[in-house]
Amino acid sequence: MVCLGNICRSPLAEGILKSKINPAEIFVDSAGTAGYHVGNMPDIRSIAVAQKYGIDIHQQKCRKFSSKDFKEFDIIYVMDKSNYENIITQTSNKQDIAKVRLLLSEIDLKTTEVPDPYHDKDEGFEHVFQLIDKACNEIAKKLQ
Ligand code: 4NP
Repeated sequence: MVCLGNICRSPLAEGILKSKINPAEIFVDSAGTAGYHVGNMPDIRSIAVAQKYGIDIHQQKCRKFSSKDFKEFDIIYVMDKSNYENIITQTSNKQDIAKVRLLLSEIDLKTTEVPDPYHDKDEGFEHVFQLIDKACNEIAKKLQ
């Protein structure tokens, strides 16, 4: 799960998907394309909205996406198109590029991007949670 800062959207996506799959069988992680917050815990507003739905993400630590992740992971979900562009410029390998998908491509919505809630109020985080949750339901179904 990849977003820009790895403190708002992708930590939620990591926590939500982990809550729907068997972690002994499927490894889920998250990262950011930028390194502004490396080592930090998720944004307090992401921690709060996850907590509201019984998911604990406070122990996560921000890390930056690395081109090595193309080898480590089978699927790389990005939150928006700018994350997509950023990631695919880090490889020229067609198989690597084929691993990168917009998270919301898993569900049929008018919107294709999970909006960046960093400058929003709590409602923005609730909206992001609901979008990610719907997509993760589909992913979990497919993985089973
Ligand atoms: P995220 O949100 O990409 O969902 O983690 C952001 C977090 C931090 C910043 C931008 C977006 N920032 O500019 O610091």
